[in-house]
Amino acid sequence: MATILDMPAQTRTQSADTLICHCYQVTASSIREAIDEDDAETIAEVTRLTTAGSGCGSCQCRIQRLIAGLPAECGPCALCPGCGHIQTLCHCKAA
Ligand code: FES
Repeated sequence: MATILDMPAQTRTQSADTLICHCYQVTASSIREAIDEDDAETIAEVTRLTTAGSGCGSCQCRIQRLIAGLPAECGPCALCPGCGHIQTLCHCKAA
């Protein structure tokens, strides 16, 4: 399985401090720490360690992408920087 270490350094840096869970203000670096240092392998384990994903649940696809060693943002489930909703459900059109 590919990990984030297999990714180009620039890609890793871009996603390192991305806010993943808006409900609980959990960043990608906190989730990566749960994965790398606490061996979280599932969304439930990441949620237990960080609280990310335990609110509205809209960040769970991004958590799963980080677990898979991929960049957090995949397009369709990316969050709008204006309203914080999933871009496809964006209310403010800032996305
Ligand atoms: S954004 Fe993570 S649970 Fe709502």
